[in-house]
Amino acid sequence: MHETISIKSIRLLVDVFYRDIRKHPRLGPVFNDAIGRSDEKWEPHLQKITHFWSSLFLGTKTYRGNPLRAHRELPQFPIELFDEWLDLFHQKAAEIFVPEICKEFKVKSEMIARSLKVGIYQMSNF
Ligand code: HEM
Repeated sequence: MHETISIKSIRLLVDVFYRDIRKHPRLGPVFNDAIGRSDEKWEPHLQKITHFWSSLFLGTKTYRGNPLRAHRELPQFPIELFDEWLDLFHQKAAEIFVPEICKEFKVKSEMIARSLKVGIYQMSNF
């Protein structure tokens, strides 16, 4: 159980989360179609997401990108997939981090998911 957020513990979370995402019956195809199926194709995505979370939690400023634009450019997927994404993410965060830190990932991910949904589906009543 990790008691602190570090680049190492974030990368662990990213690794275990996307390992399951890639095999997920509904989320897997969305990701694999956009990113690819080989580990070589996935590595840059894993690094980018590690930068994303470390910029948020550690202030590393290593993530440069526009998550809303990236998600808007994907072929549209059912909005219900967000709940599955969040459930899996929270499950993995709970396996890796002590409850207090797990909660921080939960709160942040839910906030971001809400703003992505508003931006992607052009609705504001989630
Ligand atoms: C159903 C929910 C979601 C799906 C299906 C999804 C799918 C994807 C896919 C396929 C990409 C890769 C795009 C590409 O490289 O072509 C991506 C990128 C990304 N996703 Fe998600 N995503 C979801 C939710 C989230 C949430 C909730 C977060 C944050 C808490 C998030 C954060 C990111 C970030 C930071 C990137 C990198 C964007 C960039 O290129 O700079 N995603 N997502």
